[in-house]
Amino acid sequence: MIERFDENAREAFGRRGRTVVRRGELMRHTAYTRVLHWTVALSFVLSLLTGFAIYSPWLYRWLTPLFGGGPMTRFLHPWFALVFTVAFAFQFVNWLRPMRWTGNDRRWMKRIRAYVTNQEKTEPPETAFFNGGQKIYFWLIVFSTVIFLITGFLLWFDDVVPRWVVAVSYVLHDIAALLMLAGFIVHIYEGTAAQPGTFQSMTNGTVTKEWAWTHHPAWYEEVTGRDPREDYEAARDRQSEPNDSQRPEEL
Ligand code: HEM
Repeated sequence: MIERFDENAREAFGRRGRTVVRRGELMRHTAYTRVLHWTVALSFVLSLLTGFAIYSPWLYRWLTPLFGGGPMTRFLHPWFALVFTVAFAFQFVNWLRPMRWTGNDRRWMKRIRAYVTNQEKTEPPETAFFNGGQKIYFWLIVFSTVIFLITGFLLWFDDVVPRWVVAVSYVLHDIAALLMLAGFIVHIYEGTAAQPGTFQSMTNGTVTKEWAWTHHPAWYEEVTGRDPREDYEAARDRQSEPNDSQRPEEL
């Protein structure tokens, strides 16, 4: 039932939001996924900023005028957080299938050092739609959101909750926030500067074939039926030929 809802939502958004896939490109994220992702991102940033202002007014008092003053910031924070939670719940359903953990992801994690230090030109051939690191980020958000939701409600209604529960909730809420913040910083870096061509997957919805065989070879093979290694080597050979003007994206 949940999957059917997700498919219907994709279709409904697909009829309204156009995704133009040019020659040499592949469709990566549908309009529905992109709308969900940016709703999650915006509500997360608003929750984070209002949360900072409540957490340490001494350091972040300068943020409160943006939200209409201190009491208004305190009032808005749980509502931004609720929008985030609901939007992420839809994103959870939308990505549950490609985010399932597999043996390939365990192997991917073992060579994370090579990934971080960019030692290899292409990802291992079994890297599918999302790699192990992306999946860990996703499950970290799931875990933190559950903690946020439970502790957030206890803090929201702190007048009816025992004091020790409120105290423990503060600590857990802040740990979840720090985990999310760390993941968020790495995520922005990986989605922009570290891997050129990734950001456009969340704006236009597409990536180049070169990007696909480099970062997600198994997904490339699945959607094109072609061997990513062969295409990578062919593109590399063409690039090394002195007078060849054809670019790898034209494959
Ligand atoms: C505001 C800055 C952000 C940028 C520039 C950004 C960029 C991106 C991009 C380009 C992708 C697609 C990656 C791919 O197709 O391989 C993506 C995926 C994703 N985003 Fe974001 N994002 C941002 C904020 C957020 C926030 C705030 C969250 C959640 C709290 C989030 C959660 C995710 C998740 C779970 C994925 C799928 C897994 C992954 O690629 O890591 N993003 N993001």
